[in-house]
Amino acid sequence: MQAVGVIGAGQMGAGIAQVSAQAGYRVLLSDVSRERAEAGKAGIAKALDRLVTKEKITGDARDAALALIEPVEGVAAMGDCALVIEAATEREEIKRAIFADVGKVLGPQAILASNTSSIPITRLAQASPDPARFVGVHFFNPVPVMGLIELIRGLATSDATVETVEAYAQSLGKQVVRANDAPGFIVNRVLMPMLNEACFALGEGVATVRDIDLGCQLGLNHPMGPLTLADFIGLDTCLEICRVLHTSTGDPKFRPAPLLVKYVEAGWFGRKTKRGFYDYTGPEPVPTR
Ligand code: 3HC
Repeated sequence: MQAVGVIGAGQMGAGIAQVSAQAGYRVLLSDVSRERAEAGKAGIAKALDRLVTKEKITGDARDAALALIEPVEGVAAMGDCALVIEAATEREEIKRAIFADVGKVLGPQAILASNTSSIPITRLAQASPDPARFVGVHFFNPVPVMGLIELIRGLATSDATVETVEAYAQSLGKQVVRANDAPGFIVNRVLMPMLNEACFALGEGVATVRDIDLGCQLGLNHPMGPLTLADFIGLDTCLEICRVLHTSTGDPKFRPAPLLVKYVEAGWFGRKTKRGFYDYTGPEPVPTR
């Protein structure tokens, strides 16, 4: 494959750029400014350094991967990319504006993919230059560690598009699951009700943050308790996904927990704001309830 364009150099976009470069793809990385794209690359350099220190990769492999990542200004340079992956903020109007921009340069065979966690692919495809060449490609956080990519096919997505992107995903060393364009796809459809229920349990005084998390972590053999995971994903993101599930299905089982809503209203988004169900200002996270 020719170059891969990645739009959005935050946690997800940088992770996607990193794993793509490690698999040998040339990557054009953009964000709202070249500085943000450069900052994304600097974060990738640190992540690769850690892998070298842990002797997971060689110094040469780190240098080769870094050399393949080019921070760019805007999307104008992405005209020769075979695949452009949008990993920008999870707001539909932002994604639509990006697709309009990319549409001006996207090659006639090139595929446009969105890493959206919950916005319907069929609807997003309407803002893309060619819905047949539009697909959902859902990575998981932290991208370099998580072994899964969910591929979501919109109503108009062609077989060729799904097959090409599946081959790309597999070339990153990830397993692929295919989902139809239903709210939450597979993983968030199952995960978010669990995280939301943990928020209900906390809000109703069933148990403390520590006990809910430890109970689920050890009782279910999960790597993180649900409240830790919600903080890790971002409480704003969790709430947004719960709202998409609730409004698009109309099913009250997906209604967001009042405590989750309150935390987001307070600006307590989890790790990224250093306050969520835990306080992250010290050396170790401290439960807040
Ligand atoms: N980036 C890169 N590597 C990371 C990392 C990060 N942010 N965090 C941890 N790692 C690596 C570590 O370096 C370590 O690598 P090693 O085994 O090669 O030395 C390995 O992951 C394990 O890390 P730690 O020993 O520090 O800590 P843990 O064993 O607690 O693992 C974790 C951390 C991998 C984050 C683990 O707790 C985990 O898997 N948690 C669940 C994550 C999860 O469920 N993600 C999906 C969220 S849902 C989603 O993304 C969808 C979206 O739409 C909401």
